[in-house]
Amino acid sequence: MADRLIIFDTTLRDGEQVPGCQLNSIEKIEVAKALEGLGVDVIEAGFPVSSHGDFNSVVEISKAVVWPVICALTRAVEKDIEVAAEALRYAKRARIHTGIGVSDYHIRYKFNATRDQILERAVACVKYAKRFVEDVEFYAEDAGRADNAFLAQVLEAVIKAGATVVNIPDTTGYCLPDAYGAKIKYIADNVTNIDKAIISTHCHNDLGMATANTVQGILNGARQAEVTVNGIGERAGNTSLEEIAVIFRSHKEAGIETNVDARKIYGVSRMVSSLMNMPVQPNKAVVGRNAFAHSSGIHQDGVLKNRESYEIIDPRDVGIDDSAIVLTARSGRAALKHRLHILGVDLEQDKLDKAYAGFLELADRKKDVNDDDLLMLVGKDRTAMHRIKLEHLQVTSGIGLQSMASVCLNLSGVRRCEAAAGNGPVDAGIKAVKKAISNSEMTIQEFLIQAINKGSDDTGKVHMQVEYKGNVYYGFSANTDIIAASVEAFVDAINRFIV
Ligand code: KIV
Ligand code: ZN
Repeated sequence: MADRLIIFDTTLRDGEQVPGCQLNSIEKIEVAKALEGLGVDVIEAGFPVSSHGDFNSVVEISKAVVWPVICALTRAVEKDIEVAAEALRYAKRARIHTGIGVSDYHIRYKFNATRDQILERAVACVKYAKRFVEDVEFYAEDAGRADNAFLAQVLEAVIKAGATVVNIPDTTGYCLPDAYGAKIKYIADNVTNIDKAIISTHCHNDLGMATANTVQGILNGARQAEVTVNGIGERAGNTSLEEIAVIFRSHKEAGIETNVDARKIYGVSRMVSSLMNMPVQPNKAVVGRNAFAHSSGIHQDGVLKNRESYEIIDPRDVGIDDSAIVLTARSGRAALKHRLHILGVDLEQDKLDKAYAGFLELADRKKDVNDDDLLMLVGKDRTAMHRIKLEHLQVTSGIGLQSMASVCLNLSGVRRCEAAAGNGPVDAGIKAVKKAISNSEMTIQEFLIQAINKGSDDTGKVHMQVEYKGNVYYGFSANTDIIAASVEAFVDAINRFIV
Protein backbone atom coordinates (compact mmCIF):
# COMPACT_ATOMS: atom_id res chain seq x y z
CA MET A 1 0.00 0.00 0.00
CA ALA A 2 1.20 3.49 -0.83
CA ASP A 3 2.23 5.91 1.92
CA ARG A 4 0.15 9.04 2.31
CA LEU A 5 1.92 12.38 1.73
CA ILE A 6 0.36 15.32 3.56
CA ILE A 7 0.02 18.36 1.31
CA PHE A 8 0.59 21.58 3.27
CA ASP A 9 -0.28 24.57 1.12
CA THR A 10 1.34 27.91 1.92
CA THR A 11 0.06 29.91 -1.07
CA LEU A 12 -1.73 32.25 1.34
CA ARG A 13 1.35 32.79 3.53
CA ASP A 14 4.71 32.23 1.78
CA GLY A 15 3.07 32.73 -1.64
CA GLU A 16 1.35 35.89 -0.60
CA GLN A 17 4.64 37.46 0.54
CA VAL A 18 5.43 38.17 -3.12
CA PRO A 19 5.20 41.93 -3.79
CA GLY A 20 2.02 42.70 -5.71
CA CYS A 21 0.35 39.36 -4.89
CA GLN A 22 -1.56 40.51 -1.82
CA LEU A 23 -5.17 39.39 -1.60
CA ASN A 24 -8.01 40.81 0.44
CA SER A 25 -9.86 38.58 2.93
CA ILE A 26 -12.65 37.72 0.48
CA GLU A 27 -10.17 36.61 -2.15
CA LYS A 28 -8.23 34.58 0.43
CA ILE A 29 -11.41 32.77 1.44
CA GLU A 30 -12.07 32.03 -2.22
CA VAL A 31 -8.58 30.54 -2.60
CA ALA A 32 -8.87 28.60 0.69
CA LYS A 33 -12.15 27.04 -0.42
CA ALA A 34 -10.63 26.10 -3.76
CA LEU A 35 -7.71 24.48 -1.90
CA GLU A 36 -10.15 22.55 0.24
CA GLY A 37 -11.93 21.39 -2.93
CA LEU A 38 -8.59 20.36 -4.37
CA GLY A 39 -7.96 18.08 -1.40
CA VAL A 40 -5.17 19.97 0.36
CA ASP A 41 -4.63 18.65 3.92
CA VAL A 42 -3.23 21.75 5.64
CA ILE A 43 -3.76 25.39 4.68
CA GLU A 44 -1.27 27.90 6.06
CA ALA A 45 -3.63 30.85 6.19
CA GLY A 46 -1.27 33.64 7.29
CA PHE A 47 1.04 35.21 9.84
CA PRO A 48 -1.52 36.78 12.19
CA VAL A 49 0.77 39.06 14.20
CA SER A 50 2.11 40.70 11.02
CA SER A 51 -1.04 42.76 10.27
CA HIS A 52 -4.75 43.13 11.02
CA GLY A 53 -5.44 41.93 7.49
CA ASP A 54 -3.54 38.68 8.07
CA PHE A 55 -5.19 38.20 11.45
CA ASN A 56 -8.68 38.65 9.99
CA SER A 57 -7.94 36.37 7.08
CA VAL A 58 -6.93 33.55 9.42
CA VAL A 59 -10.16 34.12 11.40
CA GLU A 60 -12.35 34.14 8.29
CA ILE A 61 -10.64 31.17 6.63
CA SER A 62 -11.00 29.21 9.88
CA LYS A 63 -14.73 29.86 9.75
CA ALA A 64 -15.12 29.17 6.02
CA VAL A 65 -13.14 25.97 5.65
CA VAL A 66 -14.31 22.69 7.14
CA TRP A 67 -12.00 19.84 6.43
CA PRO A 68 -8.31 20.94 6.17
CA VAL A 69 -6.17 21.83 9.17
CA ILE A 70 -5.76 25.62 9.40
CA CYS A 71 -2.25 26.70 10.27
CA ALA A 72 -0.92 30.09 11.41
CA LEU A 73 2.74 31.13 11.37
CA THR A 74 4.60 32.73 14.27
CA ARG A 75 8.14 33.59 15.26
CA ALA A 76 9.51 32.09 18.49
CA VAL A 77 7.88 34.96 20.34
CA GLU A 78 5.13 34.57 22.95
CA LYS A 79 3.08 37.49 21.65
CA ASP A 80 3.07 36.00 18.12
CA ILE A 81 1.87 32.67 19.49
CA GLU A 82 -0.91 34.27 21.55
CA VAL A 83 -2.13 36.25 18.51
CA ALA A 84 -1.99 33.15 16.28
CA ALA A 85 -4.00 31.13 18.81
CA GLU A 86 -6.58 33.90 18.97
CA ALA A 87 -6.84 34.05 15.16
CA LEU A 88 -7.31 30.26 15.01
CA ARG A 89 -10.15 30.18 17.54
CA TYR A 90 -12.79 29.18 14.94
CA ALA A 91 -10.64 26.52 13.22
CA LYS A 92 -12.11 23.04 13.43
CA ARG A 93 -8.54 21.70 13.44
CA ALA A 94 -5.88 24.28 14.32
CA ARG A 95 -2.10 24.20 14.02
CA ILE A 96 0.48 26.72 15.19
CA HIS A 97 3.64 26.83 13.07
CA THR A 98 6.43 28.29 15.15
CA GLY A 99 10.19 28.19 14.90
CA ILE A 100 13.56 29.86 14.76
CA GLY A 101 16.72 29.98 12.61
CA VAL A 102 19.15 27.12 13.27
CA SER A 103 21.99 27.72 10.79
CA ASP A 104 25.11 29.41 12.09
CA TYR A 105 24.34 32.34 9.75
CA HIS A 106 21.03 32.90 11.51
CA ILE A 107 22.35 32.16 15.00
CA ARG A 108 25.29 34.53 14.66
CA TYR A 109 24.01 37.34 12.45
CA LYS A 110 20.24 37.34 12.88
CA PHE A 111 20.02 36.53 16.58
CA ASN A 112 23.52 37.33 17.84
CA ALA A 113 23.08 34.25 19.99
CA THR A 114 24.70 30.90 20.80
CA ARG A 115 23.50 27.45 19.77
CA ASP A 116 22.45 26.76 23.37
CA GLN A 117 20.32 29.90 23.48
CA ILE A 118 18.62 28.95 20.19
CA LEU A 119 17.95 25.45 21.49
CA GLU A 120 16.36 26.93 24.59
CA ARG A 121 14.17 29.34 22.60
CA ALA A 122 13.09 26.55 20.22
CA VAL A 123 11.89 24.37 23.10
CA ALA A 124 10.24 27.32 24.84
CA CYS A 125 8.21 28.36 21.78
CA VAL A 126 6.91 24.84 21.21
CA LYS A 127 5.97 24.48 24.88
CA TYR A 128 4.22 27.84 24.80
CA ALA A 129 2.29 26.98 21.61
CA LYS A 130 1.23 23.67 23.20
CA ARG A 131 -0.66 25.65 25.84
CA PHE A 132 -3.08 26.74 23.10
CA VAL A 133 -3.25 23.91 20.54
CA GLU A 134 -2.37 20.24 20.40
CA ASP A 135 -0.96 20.37 16.87
CA VAL A 136 2.33 22.32 16.85
CA GLU A 137 4.68 22.40 13.88
CA PHE A 138 8.25 23.55 14.47
CA TYR A 139 10.27 25.10 11.62
CA ALA A 140 14.04 25.00 11.80
CA GLU A 141 14.64 28.03 9.60
CA ASP A 142 17.59 27.77 7.19
CA ALA A 143 17.90 24.07 8.02
CA GLY A 144 19.28 23.65 4.50
CA ARG A 145 22.53 25.33 5.59
CA ALA A 146 22.51 24.16 9.20
CA ASP A 147 24.88 21.69 10.80
CA ASN A 148 23.09 18.32 10.75
CA ALA A 149 24.17 17.30 14.25
CA PHE A 150 22.89 20.55 15.79
CA LEU A 151 19.70 20.34 13.70
CA ALA A 152 19.06 16.83 15.01
CA GLN A 153 19.66 17.99 18.59
CA VAL A 154 17.11 20.81 18.18
CA LEU A 155 14.53 18.51 16.58
CA GLU A 156 14.85 15.91 19.29
CA ALA A 157 14.31 18.58 21.94
CA VAL A 158 11.27 20.17 20.24
CA ILE A 159 9.64 16.78 19.67
CA LYS A 160 10.16 16.06 23.35
CA ALA A 161 8.47 19.42 24.04
CA GLY A 162 5.44 18.31 21.99
CA ALA A 163 6.06 19.24 18.33
CA THR A 164 3.89 17.06 16.10
CA VAL A 165 5.56 18.08 12.83
CA VAL A 166 9.16 19.15 12.22
CA ASN A 167 9.70 21.35 9.18
CA ILE A 168 13.13 21.35 7.51
CA PRO A 169 13.15 24.48 5.34
CA ASP A 170 15.74 25.06 2.68
CA THR A 171 15.01 28.73 3.23
CA THR A 172 17.55 30.05 0.76
CA GLY A 173 17.06 27.35 -1.91
CA TYR A 174 20.73 26.41 -1.54
CA CYS A 175 20.71 22.61 -1.22
CA LEU A 176 21.47 20.11 -3.95
CA PRO A 177 18.83 17.36 -4.17
CA ASP A 178 21.19 14.65 -2.89
CA ALA A 179 22.28 16.79 0.06
CA TYR A 180 18.71 17.69 0.99
CA GLY A 181 17.65 14.03 0.74
CA ALA A 182 20.65 13.03 2.88
CA LYS A 183 19.68 15.66 5.47
CA ILE A 184 16.19 14.18 5.78
CA LYS A 185 17.66 10.68 6.04
CA TYR A 186 20.09 11.88 8.72
CA ILE A 187 17.15 13.24 10.70
CA ALA A 188 15.15 10.03 10.23
CA ASP A 189 18.14 7.95 11.38
CA ASN A 190 19.52 10.10 14.20
CA VAL A 191 16.62 11.83 15.96
CA THR A 192 15.70 9.16 18.48
CA ASN A 193 12.06 10.25 18.95
CA ILE A 194 11.37 11.00 15.26
CA ASP A 195 8.59 8.37 15.24
CA LYS A 196 6.53 10.85 17.30
CA ALA A 197 6.57 13.55 14.61
CA ILE A 198 6.11 13.96 10.87
CA ILE A 199 9.04 15.32 8.88
CA SER A 200 8.07 18.13 6.51
CA THR A 201 9.88 19.57 3.49
CA HIS A 202 9.81 23.30 2.70
CA CYS A 203 11.97 24.12 -0.30
CA HIS A 204 12.64 27.39 -2.10
CA ASN A 205 13.50 27.60 -5.76
CA ASP A 206 16.46 29.99 -5.87
CA LEU A 207 18.52 27.51 -7.87
CA GLY A 208 15.55 25.93 -9.64
CA MET A 209 15.72 22.83 -7.44
CA ALA A 210 12.73 23.20 -5.11
CA THR A 211 10.73 20.36 -6.62
CA ALA A 212 13.77 18.06 -6.99
CA ASN A 213 14.74 18.72 -3.37
CA THR A 214 11.21 18.07 -2.14
CA VAL A 215 11.07 14.78 -4.04
CA GLN A 216 14.40 13.72 -2.52
CA GLY A 217 13.15 14.70 0.93
CA ILE A 218 10.04 12.56 0.47
CA LEU A 219 11.98 9.60 -0.90
CA ASN A 220 14.12 9.79 2.23
CA GLY A 221 11.31 9.82 4.76
CA ALA A 222 9.48 13.15 4.79
CA ARG A 223 5.69 12.68 4.80
CA GLN A 224 4.54 16.29 4.51
CA ALA A 225 5.41 18.64 1.63
CA GLU A 226 5.01 22.41 1.90
CA VAL A 227 4.02 23.81 -1.46
CA THR A 228 2.29 26.68 -3.25
CA VAL A 229 -0.01 26.79 -6.25
CA ASN A 230 1.99 27.63 -9.39
CA GLY A 231 5.12 27.57 -7.22
CA ILE A 232 4.65 31.21 -6.25
CA GLY A 233 6.58 32.54 -3.28
CA GLU A 234 9.34 34.85 -2.19
CA ARG A 235 12.13 35.42 -4.73
CA ALA A 236 12.15 32.43 -7.11
CA GLY A 237 9.24 30.84 -5.29
CA ASN A 238 8.43 27.61 -3.46
CA THR A 239 7.91 24.04 -4.55
CA SER A 240 4.82 23.88 -6.72
CA LEU A 241 1.82 21.93 -5.50
CA GLU A 242 0.83 20.69 -8.93
CA GLU A 243 4.31 19.33 -9.68
CA ILE A 244 4.49 17.29 -6.46
CA ALA A 245 0.96 15.93 -6.85
CA VAL A 246 1.51 14.92 -10.48
CA ILE A 247 5.03 13.51 -9.95
CA PHE A 248 3.75 10.95 -7.44
CA ARG A 249 0.69 10.24 -9.59
CA SER A 250 2.99 9.52 -12.52
CA HIS A 251 5.56 7.52 -10.52
CA LYS A 252 3.44 4.97 -8.69
CA GLU A 253 6.59 2.91 -8.04
CA ALA A 254 7.63 5.55 -5.47
CA GLY A 255 4.75 4.32 -3.30
CA ILE A 256 3.51 7.79 -2.36
CA GLU A 257 -0.04 9.11 -2.76
CA THR A 258 -1.73 12.41 -1.99
CA ASN A 259 -5.33 13.43 -1.49
CA VAL A 260 -5.15 15.96 -4.35
CA ASP A 261 -7.96 15.72 -6.90
CA ALA A 262 -5.74 16.21 -9.93
CA ARG A 263 -8.64 17.17 -12.22
CA LYS A 264 -9.05 20.37 -10.23
CA ILE A 265 -5.41 21.44 -10.58
CA TYR A 266 -5.82 23.55 -13.70
CA GLY A 267 -8.83 25.46 -12.37
CA VAL A 268 -7.12 26.29 -9.07
CA SER A 269 -3.92 27.28 -10.89
CA ARG A 270 -5.85 29.74 -13.08
CA MET A 271 -7.79 31.11 -10.16
CA VAL A 272 -4.65 31.82 -8.11
CA SER A 273 -2.87 33.33 -11.10
CA SER A 274 -5.80 35.59 -11.81
CA LEU A 275 -6.50 36.71 -8.23
CA MET A 276 -2.82 37.27 -7.46
CA ASN A 277 -2.10 39.01 -10.77
CA MET A 278 0.74 36.57 -11.23
CA PRO A 279 1.05 35.18 -14.75
CA VAL A 280 1.99 31.50 -15.07
CA GLN A 281 5.10 31.16 -17.21
CA PRO A 282 4.07 29.52 -20.53
CA ASN A 283 6.51 26.62 -20.14
CA LYS A 284 5.63 25.93 -16.48
CA ALA A 285 5.38 22.18 -15.84
CA VAL A 286 1.83 20.82 -15.57
CA VAL A 287 -0.09 24.11 -15.80
CA GLY A 288 1.79 26.31 -18.29
CA ARG A 289 0.08 27.25 -21.54
CA ASN A 290 2.66 25.27 -23.52
CA ALA A 291 2.87 22.27 -21.17
CA PHE A 292 0.83 20.18 -23.58
CA ALA A 293 1.37 22.10 -26.83
CA HIS A 294 3.27 20.04 -29.37
CA SER A 295 4.58 22.33 -32.05
CA SER A 296 7.20 20.32 -33.90
CA GLY A 297 5.90 18.23 -36.80
CA ILE A 298 7.51 15.02 -35.48
CA HIS A 299 5.92 15.44 -32.06
CA GLN A 300 2.51 16.31 -33.50
CA ASP A 301 2.60 13.27 -35.71
CA GLY A 302 3.62 11.04 -32.78
CA VAL A 303 0.90 12.42 -30.49
CA LEU A 304 -1.76 11.97 -33.15
CA LYS A 305 -0.76 8.32 -33.62
CA ASN A 306 -0.64 7.69 -29.88
CA ARG A 307 -0.77 10.40 -27.22
CA GLU A 308 1.70 8.56 -24.98
CA SER A 309 4.47 8.81 -27.60
CA TYR A 310 5.29 12.28 -26.32
CA GLU A 311 2.89 12.91 -23.43
CA ILE A 312 3.54 11.47 -19.97
CA ILE A 313 0.52 13.23 -18.47
CA ASP A 314 -2.93 13.21 -20.01
CA PRO A 315 -3.94 16.90 -19.91
CA ARG A 316 -7.49 15.86 -19.00
CA ASP A 317 -6.15 14.28 -15.80
CA VAL A 318 -5.12 17.72 -14.54
CA GLY A 319 -8.31 19.42 -15.67
CA ILE A 320 -7.22 20.69 -19.07
CA ASP A 321 -10.05 19.67 -21.31
CA ASP A 322 -9.35 20.00 -25.04
CA SER A 323 -13.01 19.74 -25.75
CA ALA A 324 -13.96 22.37 -23.18
CA ILE A 325 -16.98 24.30 -24.31
CA VAL A 326 -15.81 27.50 -25.93
CA LEU A 327 -18.05 30.28 -24.80
CA THR A 328 -19.34 32.69 -27.42
CA ALA A 329 -21.89 35.49 -27.51
CA ARG A 330 -24.59 32.84 -27.93
CA SER A 331 -23.70 30.97 -24.72
CA GLY A 332 -26.23 31.14 -21.95
CA ARG A 333 -25.93 31.88 -18.26
CA ALA A 334 -25.90 28.14 -17.45
CA ALA A 335 -22.85 27.55 -19.67
CA LEU A 336 -21.05 30.44 -17.99
CA LYS A 337 -21.97 29.12 -14.54
CA HIS A 338 -20.77 25.64 -15.46
CA ARG A 339 -17.43 26.86 -16.85
CA LEU A 340 -16.81 29.07 -13.82
CA HIS A 341 -17.60 26.12 -11.55
CA ILE A 342 -14.95 24.04 -13.36
CA LEU A 343 -12.54 26.92 -12.73
CA GLY A 344 -13.39 26.77 -9.02
CA VAL A 345 -15.57 29.90 -8.96
CA ASP A 346 -19.13 29.55 -7.68
CA LEU A 347 -21.04 32.80 -7.82
CA GLU A 348 -24.25 33.82 -6.12
CA GLN A 349 -27.07 34.81 -8.48
CA ASP A 350 -26.51 38.60 -8.41
CA LYS A 351 -22.77 38.22 -9.04
CA LEU A 352 -23.46 35.70 -11.80
CA ASP A 353 -25.86 38.16 -13.45
CA LYS A 354 -23.18 40.84 -13.33
CA ALA A 355 -20.53 38.48 -14.67
CA TYR A 356 -22.91 37.40 -17.45
CA ALA A 357 -23.50 41.01 -18.50
CA GLY A 358 -19.72 41.55 -18.62
CA PHE A 359 -19.31 38.30 -20.52
CA LEU A 360 -21.82 39.32 -23.21
CA GLU A 361 -20.07 42.64 -23.60
CA LEU A 362 -16.70 40.89 -23.99
CA ALA A 363 -18.11 38.23 -26.32
CA ASP A 364 -19.29 41.04 -28.62
CA ARG A 365 -15.69 42.21 -28.93
CA LYS A 366 -14.01 38.81 -28.93
CA LYS A 367 -15.07 35.70 -30.86
CA ASP A 368 -14.20 33.03 -28.28
CA VAL A 369 -14.13 33.78 -24.59
CA ASN A 370 -11.61 31.54 -22.82
CA ASP A 371 -10.93 30.59 -19.21
CA ASP A 372 -8.50 33.43 -18.53
CA ASP A 373 -10.97 35.96 -19.91
CA LEU A 374 -13.64 34.59 -17.58
CA LEU A 375 -11.41 34.80 -14.53
CA MET A 376 -10.51 38.36 -15.47
CA LEU A 377 -14.19 39.21 -15.73
CA VAL A 378 -14.95 37.80 -12.32
CA GLY A 379 -11.92 39.57 -10.90
CA LYS A 380 -13.13 42.94 -12.23
CA ASP A 381 -15.44 43.12 -9.24
CA ARG A 382 -12.37 44.06 -7.22
CA THR A 383 -12.33 47.55 -8.69
CA ALA A 384 -15.84 48.19 -7.32
CA MET A 385 -14.31 49.51 -4.07
CA HIS A 386 -11.96 51.94 -5.82
CA ARG A 387 -12.20 55.57 -4.80
CA ILE A 388 -10.88 56.73 -8.17
CA LYS A 389 -12.67 55.22 -11.16
CA LEU A 390 -11.85 55.64 -14.81
CA GLU A 391 -15.18 56.44 -16.46
CA HIS A 392 -14.09 57.63 -19.87
CA LEU A 393 -10.97 57.37 -22.01
CA GLN A 394 -10.52 58.51 -25.55
CA VAL A 395 -7.21 58.54 -27.40
CA THR A 396 -5.98 59.59 -30.81
CA SER A 397 -2.67 58.27 -32.00
CA GLY A 398 -0.99 57.14 -35.16
CA ILE A 399 2.05 57.57 -37.32
CA GLY A 400 2.73 61.26 -37.92
CA LEU A 401 0.16 62.29 -35.30
CA GLN A 402 0.64 63.78 -31.84
CA SER A 403 -0.92 61.33 -29.34
CA MET A 404 -3.71 62.89 -27.32
CA ALA A 405 -5.91 61.48 -24.59
CA SER A 406 -8.92 62.72 -22.72
CA VAL A 407 -10.06 61.04 -19.53
CA CYS A 408 -12.92 61.45 -17.09
CA LEU A 409 -12.40 60.17 -13.57
CA ASN A 410 -14.93 59.71 -10.83
CA LEU A 411 -13.19 60.89 -7.66
CA SER A 412 -15.43 59.68 -4.83
CA GLY A 413 -18.52 60.89 -6.70
CA VAL A 414 -16.99 64.02 -8.28
CA ARG A 415 -16.40 63.85 -12.04
CA ARG A 416 -13.16 65.43 -13.33
CA CYS A 417 -12.22 65.45 -17.02
CA GLU A 418 -8.82 66.39 -18.42
CA ALA A 419 -6.86 66.03 -21.65
CA ALA A 420 -3.12 65.72 -22.30
CA ALA A 421 -0.63 65.09 -25.07
CA GLY A 422 2.06 62.40 -24.84
CA ASN A 423 4.73 60.58 -26.81
CA GLY A 424 2.23 57.72 -27.30
CA PRO A 425 -1.38 56.99 -26.32
CA VAL A 426 -0.47 55.38 -22.96
CA ASP A 427 1.77 58.29 -22.00
CA ALA A 428 -1.00 60.74 -22.97
CA GLY A 429 -3.62 58.77 -20.99
CA ILE A 430 -1.48 58.62 -17.86
CA LYS A 431 -0.60 62.32 -18.06
CA ALA A 432 -4.32 63.13 -18.36
CA VAL A 433 -5.04 61.01 -15.25
CA LYS A 434 -2.28 62.83 -13.32
CA LYS A 435 -3.82 66.17 -14.31
CA ALA A 436 -7.28 65.01 -13.24
CA ILE A 437 -6.05 64.04 -9.77
CA SER A 438 -3.78 67.13 -9.61
CA ASN A 439 -0.84 65.01 -8.63
CA SER A 440 2.10 64.04 -10.78
CA GLU A 441 4.53 62.84 -8.13
CA MET A 442 4.27 59.15 -9.05
CA THR A 443 6.53 57.39 -11.55
CA ILE A 444 6.09 54.10 -13.37
CA GLN A 445 8.85 51.63 -12.46
CA GLU A 446 7.71 48.60 -14.40
CA PHE A 447 5.13 48.17 -17.13
CA LEU A 448 4.34 44.76 -18.60
CA ILE A 449 1.77 44.07 -21.32
CA GLN A 450 0.96 40.44 -22.02
CA ALA A 451 -1.54 38.83 -24.37
CA ILE A 452 -3.39 35.92 -22.77
CA ASN A 453 -3.73 33.65 -25.75
CA LYS A 454 -3.52 34.43 -29.42
CA GLY A 455 -5.37 36.42 -32.03
CA SER A 456 -5.62 40.15 -32.58
CA ASP A 457 -8.90 40.19 -30.61
CA ASP A 458 -7.20 38.76 -27.52
CA THR A 459 -7.37 40.25 -24.02
CA GLY A 460 -4.20 42.05 -22.93
CA LYS A 461 -3.10 41.92 -19.29
CA VAL A 462 -1.15 44.83 -17.86
CA HIS A 463 0.96 44.73 -14.71
CA MET A 464 2.35 48.03 -13.50
CA GLN A 465 4.63 49.09 -10.63
CA VAL A 466 4.21 52.71 -9.59
CA GLU A 467 6.53 54.50 -7.19
CA TYR A 468 5.11 57.16 -4.89
CA LYS A 469 6.93 58.86 -2.02
CA GLY A 470 9.52 56.07 -1.79
CA ASN A 471 7.02 53.19 -1.81
CA VAL A 472 6.11 50.88 -4.66
CA TYR A 473 2.48 50.03 -5.47
CA TYR A 474 1.11 47.49 -7.93
CA GLY A 475 -1.65 47.93 -10.47
CA PHE A 476 -3.30 45.45 -12.77
CA SER A 477 -5.94 45.36 -15.46
CA ALA A 478 -7.07 43.28 -18.42
CA ASN A 479 -8.92 44.54 -21.45
CA THR A 480 -9.15 43.77 -25.16
CA ASP A 481 -7.99 47.38 -25.60
CA ILE A 482 -4.39 47.49 -24.35
CA ILE A 483 -4.35 51.29 -24.08
CA ALA A 484 -7.41 51.12 -21.82
CA ALA A 485 -5.82 48.24 -19.85
CA SER A 486 -2.67 50.32 -19.32
CA VAL A 487 -4.48 53.40 -18.06
CA GLU A 488 -6.77 51.18 -15.90
CA ALA A 489 -3.70 49.47 -14.37
CA PHE A 490 -2.28 52.91 -13.53
CA VAL A 491 -5.58 53.92 -11.90
CA ASP A 492 -5.62 50.59 -10.02
CA ALA A 493 -2.15 51.35 -8.63
CA ILE A 494 -2.92 54.92 -7.57
CA ASN A 495 -6.04 53.72 -5.74
CA ARG A 496 -3.69 51.94 -3.39
CA PHE A 497 -2.11 55.13 -2.07
CA ILE A 498 -4.41 58.06 -2.87
CA VAL A 499 -7.04 58.00 -0.17
O1 KIV B 1 11.40 29.51 4.09
C1 KIV B 1 11.25 29.41 5.32
O2 KIV B 1 12.17 29.12 6.08
C2 KIV B 1 9.91 29.70 5.84
C3 KIV B 1 9.67 29.39 7.28
C4 KIV B 1 9.12 30.59 7.99
C5 KIV B 1 8.81 28.19 7.41
O3 KIV B 1 9.03 30.11 5.12
ZN1 ZN C 1 9.53 29.70 3.01
